[in-house]
Amino acid sequence: TRKIIIDTDPGQDDAVAILLALASPEEIEVLGLTAVAGNVPLALTQKNARIVCELAGRRDMRVFAGCDRPLVQPLVTAEHVHGKTGLDGIVLPEPTMPLQDAHAVDFIVDTLRSHPSETVTLCPLGPLTNIATAFRTAPDIIGRVQEIVLMGGAYFEVGNITPAAEFNIYVDPEAADIVFRSGVPLTVMPLDVTHKVLTTRPRIEAIRGLGSAVAHAVAEWTDFFERFDMEKYGHDGAPLHDPCVPAWLIRPDLFTGRRINVEIETTSPLTRGMTVADWWGITDRPRNALFMGDVDAGGFYELLTGRLARL
Ligand code: BDR
Ligand code: CA
Repeated sequence: TRKIIIDTDPGQDDAVAILLALASPEEIEVLGLTAVAGNVPLALTQKNARIVCELAGRRDMRVFAGCDRPLVQPLVTAEHVHGKTGLDGIVLPEPTMPLQDAHAVDFIVDTLRSHPSETVTLCPLGPLTNIATAFRTAPDIIGRVQEIVLMGGAYFEVGNITPAAEFNIYVDPEAADIVFRSGVPLTVMPLDVTHKVLTTRPRIEAIRGLGSAVAHAVAEWTDFFERFDMEKYGHDGAPLHDPCVPAWLIRPDLFTGRRINVEIETTSPLTRGMTVADWWGITDRPRNALFMGDVDAGGFYELLTGRLARL
């Protein structure tokens, strides 16, 4: 079982990722959820994280609020994709489980210090502000992280918030730069992978058909999400980005990628937030990331549907 902290900005796809992780206790032990500003402001992401835990019947899960804005630039949000609440598509009850008093960054630091070195994995599903802040304030924890498995960036698929940049990296490029240079082993799920796990009708109807409250919510969320993506990309369904992270922890065999150098553009106004990925090994820069390129989408949805059926 891998111990993880999910750092998240829910977000419908974040919500599905959280559900997949919570439904998989053999492979994943979730130590806590840390919310960050991203898809919507922090007040909503921390609330949404609690809504998702309650939906999963996990009022015991600890949820912490973290940074409410990126390290340097003002916050950019994505209500145009996720709706005003960040979880548009279905109205769920206001959460009653508490938000923890501690700051998310303190929780990350304390957890890494109190567990044996290299036994805690960080799973960022949003901008990297909380993780970078933890690394800046407590550099001693960097060497203690087992691995970072994150959703962010792109290579062939380039960008979704600007022509050059993927949203999570674009929102806080300075934070991403700190994380990508940290020396912690990185596994990255870029758009190249997430644009292959499309929420086609049959896949969503299979989830809806599970008949549970969780399944209903996931189907309604993905329906909402899809409206935007179909208009924009003309895909048969929308990408389900963030669930690729727990899916990899459970079934790494579903994914293939390359260990390559990836660096973050922070200075060019045109390409700020771009993940410059040396896919072809052109440089001899350090291979700091396992950058995924392909996924067995059928296997991914079988896994997701099977696991959601447990909730
Ligand atoms: C990422 O941005 C967010 O909108 C999604 O939740 C995902 O983490 C995709 O670019
Ligand atoms: Ca996200």
